[in-house]
Amino acid sequence: MKRREFLRNSAVAAGAMVFQSSPFTFAQGADARIEVLLDETLGEISPNIYGHFVENLSGVVYDGIWVGEKSKVPNINGIRKELIDEMRKIKPPIVRFPGGCFADSYDWRDGVGPEDKRPRRTNFWHGGEKPEAPDAHRYDPNRFGTNEFVQFCRLLSAEPYLAANLRSLPAEQLYRWFEYCNSPAGSTSLADDRAASGFKDPFKVRYWGIGNESWGCGGNFTAQEYAVEYRRFTAWVPSYPGMDRLAFIASGPNDDHWDWTRGFLEEIVKKGPREVMGIYGLALHYYAWNLSRGKTNDWVKGKGDAVNFDASDWYELLQQGDVMESLIKGHWQVMGEFDHEHHIKLVVDEWGPWYRDGSGLTPTNQLEQLPTLRDAVFSGLTLDTFNRHPEKVEIGCCAQLINCLNSLYLAHEDKFCVTPVGHTFALYGDHQGGQGLRTEFSSPTIHYDRDGKQASFWGLNGSASLHNREIVLTAVNPSLKDSVDAQIAIRGARVNSGSAVVLTAPDIHARNTFEQRQAIAPRSAKVQIKDGTLVFNFPAASVAKLNLQLA
Ligand code: AHR
Repeated sequence: MKRREFLRNSAVAAGAMVFQSSPFTFAQGADARIEVLLDETLGEISPNIYGHFVENLSGVVYDGIWVGEKSKVPNINGIRKELIDEMRKIKPPIVRFPGGCFADSYDWRDGVGPEDKRPRRTNFWHGGEKPEAPDAHRYDPNRFGTNEFVQFCRLLSAEPYLAANLRSLPAEQLYRWFEYCNSPAGSTSLADDRAASGFKDPFKVRYWGIGNESWGCGGNFTAQEYAVEYRRFTAWVPSYPGMDRLAFIASGPNDDHWDWTRGFLEEIVKKGPREVMGIYGLALHYYAWNLSRGKTNDWVKGKGDAVNFDASDWYELLQQGDVMESLIKGHWQVMGEFDHEHHIKLVVDEWGPWYRDGSGLTPTNQLEQLPTLRDAVFSGLTLDTFNRHPEKVEIGCCAQLINCLNSLYLAHEDKFCVTPVGHTFALYGDHQGGQGLRTEFSSPTIHYDRDGKQASFWGLNGSASLHNREIVLTAVNPSLKDSVDAQIAIRGARVNSGSAVVLTAPDIHARNTFEQRQAIAPRSAKVQIKDGTLVFNFPAASVAKLNLQLA
């Protein structure tokens, strides 16, 4: 559809709900309107929703992060330097490690102490490794353990978030891991062991996941069984100075499994309503994987391709991403049935698209996929969704940081690139710690062909936050054809000046590779004031960030 026809259609059909949300009269020439309501704050946007996930899975740790001190790849104490340099630009607040499913097979003791004494163990993911994959992917050398992970976090100024093994280790080992990480210098034998490795002062790890996907790889529990285990693992844990309230994150549901959320909390409160106060967060995992357009629910057959996709696949993936909003609202509502004051927050510690195998730059990296512009738009849409629910979502971890699913970075030996997803994180980082603001987007609905039937998707959506006298506004234009001229009204203030950054490309399959590291990169754009009105052009298939200075 041509832009002019589109405008005419919108005007004619306005009464027929062509606009997504309504109350505006559009000035001549505008396609859409954004209204930021300064006096309707939603709560502080937790910096931690911009977090990351690192699992000891194939090329994520070994090659991706850890190259070793003696490597010719520039490194800081064995950690890939280019990764540190790039991550510092996006202010990573928190990193989750060591899994994922790996966590429930991991013995933390294997990864501490003198390097040459650390055992090699069969990695949880060994069965999926190709014969030509490096040994370290199949048999964990334990070279990157708790010390190295904490050091990685310190280099990034990020909080460590450790996921504990509830399936195959006793609760005692969780206490010992706390003790190793948090007991004061000289206080316990494990503090001495830590000091002997060069870390005299406690690591002060606050965030602890109590198992992972305990309904599946984390133990195959029922929600009720898991609740009992959760209570046992977290009861009477040792506390240390400055670390007396640890943040325990319970293993939560996968997508819309309300029964898990309900069953878990129902069992928890059987011991009394105050039991909810010991739970900091409930993990929610959501992967957008089914691109079959309703044809199958088969985990293998339903997946789409990361790089070869058509217009319908583009919109289908975004539709799937948009489900996140209903999951947040739905689980929050169920949580409220048992936790009336909402002490427990949502921790979306695994999210992203999951495609069929085969697109990765390093073919031996299990689960590695090559992110395109579509994944950048998906990621912007997801981060906007988190921003719109600051009272509910406390932590978010994109799965996974490097050489895996929705990765921000890809690396192999001395080769490295930032993916379009990495660029989206760079744009959105400015929201961290801001006051979320209610923001209304009104735009023409997009229609597309879904196997001969018409399907629709919203035309523009996003989020805004306030930081002193600056508004950060991010938005996604999912349309493959039309750019959107939007009027932006800030209710309750005037804008002095503004700047913008846009991520888009002429080809929706655009991606960065080791050879073409800059095939897709953000560029700055102009925010205009026309006749006293703020106007911005959101290009088709784009993610954009505006920084608006208030008078
Ligand atoms: O991110 C890959 C895997 O997906 C994780 O190990 C697991 O938690 C999830 O099922």
